Order: sequence, then structure tokens, then C-alpha cells
Amino acid sequence: MKKSASKAGNGGAKSSEDDHNSKLQKLFTDELKDIYWAEKALVKAIPKMIKKATSEELIQALESHLAETEEHVNRVEEVFAELGLEPRTKKCEAMEGLIAEAESVMKDAEDGVMLDAGIIASAQKVEHYEIASYGTLRTFAQTLGLKGAVELLEQTLTEEKAADEKLTEVAESSINMQAANEE
Ligand SMILES: [Fe+2]
Ligand SMILES: [Fe+2]
Repeated sequence: MKKSASKAGNGGAKSSEDDHNSKLQKLFTDELKDIYWAEKALVKAIPKMIKKATSEELIQALESHLAETEEHVNRVEEVFAELGLEPRTKKCEAMEGLIAEAESVMKDAEDGVMLDAGIIASAQKVEHYEIASYGTLRTFAQTLGLKGAVELLEQTLTEEKAADEKLTEVAESSINMQAANEE
């Protein structure tokens, strides 16, 4: 990774492009720290959802995504390495809020189908946040010409989308139907 261009100095198109790139790289690094915090928080939060879930299909979906999430942490570390940086977290207020909301949904819902439906809703909000973050990170990495990072981010993005689709499937297949019937 090339060093950021200094603001002062030689003027002209080239240096303003460098300046733009170094600002984008700063933004990219900040976003990376944010998602690193989020992924680590999810490694702790998903097991709590698994514990509360009752549908076998939902438990399996969450367990398999927990394993992927552990890999997401590693991949973010690899992206930091691509940049020649030590991995650092920056507290992600959005993910902290989503996790807190999930906890309150789990506390308020009755056990069983309604609780499962609440867990799916919370988990899908998390996935959508991740999809937005990784989509942005990938685009930044493309702009910055960081090929290795693009590949890593793309891999995770694909898994986040698949996890979201899987949750939709679980919701449609049984849980929401049963929840409606329980009324
Ligand atoms: Fe993730
Ligand atoms: Fe995820």
C-alpha cells in the first residue's frame, strides 16, 4: 500500500488524486475497524440467540452462521494485513444497538414460535447491516486498487447474503405460519 500523500505540496491533478485516495483509505480503515468490532460482538451474541431458539432449522442456521462469523473475524484481520496494519476495533454503535434490541426482543417474547420469529427478525437486521458494510468496503477496496482485500470482502459479503436468505427461508417454511396459527 502506498503511503498517503501529504496535503501540502506540489499541487496539480496527481497530488489531488493522491489526497483523495488517502482520505478514502482513512475512511476504508475506519469502516474496517467498525466491522471488526461488530463481527467480534456477534461471535458473542449469536450463541445467546442459539440458546433461546427452539426450531431445529433455526438453530442449525444460526450455528452454521456462527462458524462463518468466526471466519469473518479472521478475514477482516487478513484485510488489515493487506494494508500493512495491525487489526484494531472501533466500537460500532449500530451493531451494539442491534444486539441490544435483539436481547430485549428475546426477553419480551414468549418461548417457542414467537420467540423464534423475533430472533429471525433481529438476526436479519444484523445481516442487512453487515451486507451494507461489506458492500461499501468492497467498493472502497476496488477504488483503492486493493485486489486481495476485494476478494476477501467479497467472500464474506456472499456469506452474509446467503445467511440472510437462509433466515428468510426458515421464517417462511414454518415459524411465521405457526406463529400466525397460535393467535
Ligand atoms: Fe459477518
Ligand atoms: Fe452475518
